[in-house]
Amino acid sequence: MTTGDWKTIFVTGGAGYIGSHCIVELLESGYNVVAIDNFTNSVIEEDGKSAALKRVEKITGKKVTFHNCDLLDKERLEEVFSKQKIDCVIHFAAIKAVGESMQIPLHYYRNNMIGAINLLEVMKAAGCFQLVFSSSCVVYGEPKSLPITEDHPTGNITNVYGRTKYFIEEMLNDITAAEKNWNIISLRYFNPVGAHPSGLIGEDPTKKYTNLMPYISQVAMGFKPELSIFGGDYPTKDGTGIRDYIHVVDLATGHVAALSALYRKHLRLRVYNLGTGKGVSVLELVRTFEKVTGASVPYVIKNRREGDISAMYADTRLAEEELGWKAKLTVEQMCRDFWRWQSTNPHGYRSSVKNGNSEK
Ligand code: WQD
Repeated sequence: MTTGDWKTIFVTGGAGYIGSHCIVELLESGYNVVAIDNFTNSVIEEDGKSAALKRVEKITGKKVTFHNCDLLDKERLEEVFSKQKIDCVIHFAAIKAVGESMQIPLHYYRNNMIGAINLLEVMKAAGCFQLVFSSSCVVYGEPKSLPITEDHPTGNITNVYGRTKYFIEEMLNDITAAEKNWNIISLRYFNPVGAHPSGLIGEDPTKKYTNLMPYISQVAMGFKPELSIFGGDYPTKDGTGIRDYIHVVDLATGHVAALSALYRKHLRLRVYNLGTGKGVSVLELVRTFEKVTGASVPYVIKNRREGDISAMYADTRLAEEELGWKAKLTVEQMCRDFWRWQSTNPHGYRSSVKNGNSEK
């Protein structure tokens, strides 16, 4: 249920993987949602509507107010933001391919940083100071100790994407120190995977990917011959990289819990890990995927990927104690739900495929 008299939540990047799953949970909690997206990373159908958000409406039976809007277009952002009273903003919109961010750093800084600054300025002008920010465990860099707690040092980061998240967190620190009205929660995601159990929404598998789960499922679908496992010589239980994989639905409910925490108490700025607290290796994820789906995932061990860390998993106590939130879904459910989405939507939200390539 909604919190107090908060009714309307503004979601940036609402057509994205995590944004769309979060909107499902917001609608099912009784909130109204105003979503914006610039569609660089998602699909518009012939009727001009977002494919992902149409499916969100199908899942929930509720309507989403949606605007095609880029955070870099400040005038358009002011226009859509001022159409209604916004009680809180959840900011997902960003570009996040680690490898790509190293090739086009200025594009990443402009998109992620200027976009965030425009949003904050428009919020302030409208008198809205309630914000949940989508951050990432990548701000921790190489962990000094595990499980990783929120007071672990940040900033020692090996890629531009991660630095944009870190710089925005620092910016949020500075504005809350300068202006007491701001009330912000920054959520540091670990590795989001899985899909809504309906199989209607998920991570669009047709994009050039670096993340593990989409690759595993593309191999299982036969779209790729084998999985390259980057590194078999890490100091871990089986030599492959360890991560804290969290079901995207658990991640979404973590945002609803954060909204309630902001409503209940003026926090200024609080940071929370959103993870499961369990480290899972690449090989363990592959084997669980094969067991759960019955699909085969041939793989080959390759050299380590530049910039990769060997192990990262969350200390989850702070979110449990202060947000009353804990991840519930298992790695098996992550694999099962992702496979249902992928096998029923082999080309993601694109309904047809021309000569083997997804339509642009
Ligand atoms: C996971 C593991 C790889 C692909 C990502 C984002 C980061 C953050 C968390 C949002 C590693 C291995 C991968 C492959 C492999 N997300 N791997 N073969 O790098 O932990 O971080 O999620 O904020 O920004 O980059 O995720 O899925 O790329 O890698 O062996 O084809 O899988 O080496 O050990 P990562 P990932």
